[in-house]
Amino acid sequence: MCGIFGFVGEGLNVQDLINGLKKLEYRGYDSAGIAIENEKNISIYKKEGRIYNLESEIPQLMEKKISTALGHTRWATHGGVSDQNSHPHTDCTGKVAIIHNGIIENFQYLREKLIKNGHIFKSETDSEVIAHMVEENYSGNLLECVIKVLHELNGAYAIGVIHTDEPNCIIAARKGSPLVISAGSNISMLASDVTPILRYSKDVNFLNDGEIAKLTNNGYELYDLQGNKIERKPIHINWDEACAERSGYNHFMEKEIFEQPIAIKSATIGRLKDGIPCIKELEPLKDFIETKLEKIYIVACGTAYHAGLAMKYFMQYYSNIDVSIEVASEFRYMNPKIDGKTLTIAISQSGETLDTLEGVRIARKNGSHVLTVCNVVGSTIPRESDSVIYMNTGPEIGVAATKTYTAQIAILYIVGAQIALWKNLYSEDIKNALCQIENLPEYFNTVLGYSQKIKELSKSYCGYRNMMYIGRRFGYTAALEGALKLKEISYINATGYQAGELKHGPIALLDQEFPVFAMVCDDDIKEKMISNIMEVKARKARVVAVGIEGDEKIKTLTDDYILIPKCEQAVFPLAVAPVMQLFAYNVALLRELDPDKPRNLAKSVTVE
Ligand code: G6P
Repeated sequence: MCGIFGFVGEGLNVQDLINGLKKLEYRGYDSAGIAIENEKNISIYKKEGRIYNLESEIPQLMEKKISTALGHTRWATHGGVSDQNSHPHTDCTGKVAIIHNGIIENFQYLREKLIKNGHIFKSETDSEVIAHMVEENYSGNLLECVIKVLHELNGAYAIGVIHTDEPNCIIAARKGSPLVISAGSNISMLASDVTPILRYSKDVNFLNDGEIAKLTNNGYELYDLQGNKIERKPIHINWDEACAERSGYNHFMEKEIFEQPIAIKSATIGRLKDGIPCIKELEPLKDFIETKLEKIYIVACGTAYHAGLAMKYFMQYYSNIDVSIEVASEFRYMNPKIDGKTLTIAISQSGETLDTLEGVRIARKNGSHVLTVCNVVGSTIPRESDSVIYMNTGPEIGVAATKTYTAQIAILYIVGAQIALWKNLYSEDIKNALCQIENLPEYFNTVLGYSQKIKELSKSYCGYRNMMYIGRRFGYTAALEGALKLKEISYINATGYQAGELKHGPIALLDQEFPVFAMVCDDDIKEKMISNIMEVKARKARVVAVGIEGDEKIKTLTDDYILIPKCEQAVFPLAVAPVMQLFAYNVALLRELDPDKPRNLAKSVTVE
């Protein structure tokens, strides 16, 4: 969950290194640091806090040309947030510098062993052992030395290592944490994801677990843990560098909320025509789905879990297909009932979430076919799955998922419809929902047009300490995501509940200091939802609702409301998403928080 960027080559300066690192800041922003190798010397600059703290300490260096450099932005695990615990870390002699993303599980043992051998540690991190181990094992060949060290490490890592005795060379390795390498003209690079690389090259190689890369001025070479050379062609990335820029918006989150019309179009194009699904990635599964499939298991975390929940409701409600869903960190340890008749659907924006990855491994081990819905091409989860549907929404940088959430639901509904079609369970209701998904870009443009109204609304709610989101059926799945968005970026204690469950406990919390956000879907159980709102009002809690245009009851019953155009009930979680997202975004701004980098969170969670 840290960000790594480094390069060997000609023509780049410190500012280029910092700029690359900034593209990875979403991965962690507790501290930042760089190592620059120059004339057999390594200089380290590192600073607690955001990258601009580091940047403002070294203005005189920015234009300096550099040929070998490592950069790191940290999400702290072992050792508090401090300058000292920031990466890069060095050995006792200052000849070695390393950056690391992941957790070295046996670091305590290794550290004690190294201390006994006379090594002096400067930080509390697990990562520093790597620098000292390189020092201890180096005998003239950095590649061989790192391979030796890797055999002693347990846990997860993506690392970059430099040594002053081998200038213009970086050794990179991966196990469990993502790492991508690339060679442009006169430059070889390593990074945690493609975004800092795109400026220089669009052809990249994603390292697999147990692979090592040697980067020099002349490109890179790949090796396995035995030191055998590996030949693998790079893959081409279609993303533009501009996709990872803010393009005039104040925050990535704002940009990504407003990108949703286009993101939905890209995610659904060619996969849906006049309400009929046609996902080519599913074609190889047709026979399995028609003749064998008995059960679907969905595995995901965070926002992706909420998208999965919407799919479960969609499948269960319209086609009565048995769908189970589990948060991946639970799925891993619950002995799930899966076999060759189960289709496991893994959902992950980043494709790197460790819990989801382990879920995929367990499902496959039990004989299930694993289909992944993912945004990041070439990431680990798709590579370990049997089938993949890429979301095609372009990079999402804001830590709180927005455009990928709506794209996930849209794709999952099309997948659900395809399964229903092949199982002869397709219906007019499914078709209607899919037709609306085809029109979602236009629909989103309308809802995004309410942004000023939502901004005004957020002023009335930004001062509360708690907020409850309620809904029923599809409205409930929307409530969960609405609450997650608010708590992630505004730190208001926000929780989503099934409205019918209020009376079994949560209602005890409500009073005039505890407002409720109600999701009022236009469906057959709307009257029950209205009764729940009345129960809330009876406890003097302030109520804001999102409902469907023309709903007069909402206008009279609630304190505040936003009415959105009519939609099928299954489409409701998609339809209200921009409202929830803009509400949370504006509340965060009013509380003077940075919505792109919420405290304690990271976009890609590669630890357990
Ligand atoms: C982190 C993020 C969440 C995200 C979750 C799953 O916790 O903060 O916003 O929903 O990971 O991420 P994934 O990349 O697997 O969709």
